[in-house]
Amino acid sequence: MASKLIAHISDPHIVEHPKLCYDKVDTRANLACVLARINSMQPKPDLVVLTGDLVDEPTAAAYETLRETLACLSVPLILLPGNHDDRELLAESLPDQVHLPRGGEKAHFIIDRPDTPLIVGFDIVVPGSEHAHVGEEDLAWLARALRRLPPRPTMLMIHHPPVHTGLAFMDAMQPALDPRFESLIARHREVKLIVCGHVHRAVDAMFGGARVAVAGSTGFQFEFALDPDKPPRFSLETPSIRLHHWSGDGVTSLVAPLADNWPSFGFPGVDEATWPEMMRRMRGGASRGEVYTPEVAAD
Ligand SMILES: [Fe+2]
Repeated sequence: MASKLIAHISDPHIVEHPKLCYDKVDTRANLACVLARINSMQPKPDLVVLTGDLVDEPTAAAYETLRETLACLSVPLILLPGNHDDRELLAESLPDQVHLPRGGEKAHFIIDRPDTPLIVGFDIVVPGSEHAHVGEEDLAWLARALRRLPPRPTMLMIHHPPVHTGLAFMDAMQPALDPRFESLIARHREVKLIVCGHVHRAVDAMFGGARVAVAGSTGFQFEFALDPDKPPRFSLETPSIRLHHWSGDGVTSLVAPLADNWPSFGFPGVDEATWPEMMRRMRGGASRGEVYTPEVAAD
């Protein structure tokens, strides 16, 4: 598989413009900042995946604000619904998301594009509920999909993380999932990565031998609290963007800060004017393992 860079964001919780989410947060402006950052990244991601809770309350007006906000994104986008979404309204509002069923059915889907990991959307949202549930039909669909797909590196998209995350109040709301789900993933080692959202914090875990990468929210985070006695609060931290770099049969994940204009200073001994040439020589293997200095670069 050719190298691919996939940006992963989640939980924008858009409300109808110009309202604020919970009368506090301009989630539309926050999503716009995140999308602008993705648009300006070098190298630019090949794809953006958005793992649910597109809006806070599922109204046509909120989805219209979402559609208008997403219009600035200059990278292909794949998304799936979360527990705050209405499947039917979401699919109607974003007709370019052709993988979403139009009649309000579960958004299970498969996206098979050349030179890209296989993407399997797995919708285990329970309408009207905070928690996820993997039913018999869901398990059967996923088993059939994984059995029939070619054994290429595969990325599963789910809104809810399939594991407890240590964020106490979120874990308390989520009953254990059917253990056959994890066994199924364990039998399909081609599933390398499971991307999720829901807990409004970046988390990493393992599930059936696959790595789970949870993205925080573009809109607002849940206050960092592992103490179950601490009441949950919203936190207005700067959001971040997860980047999953697929290469060969593997995937490496990073967290990119939203801003790239933090105060900074140069490495001692590095002439930034000659850096591109030094980098070319290092990448060419001219002196792998050596530390380059400006004098070496000038030879
Ligand atoms: Fe959310």
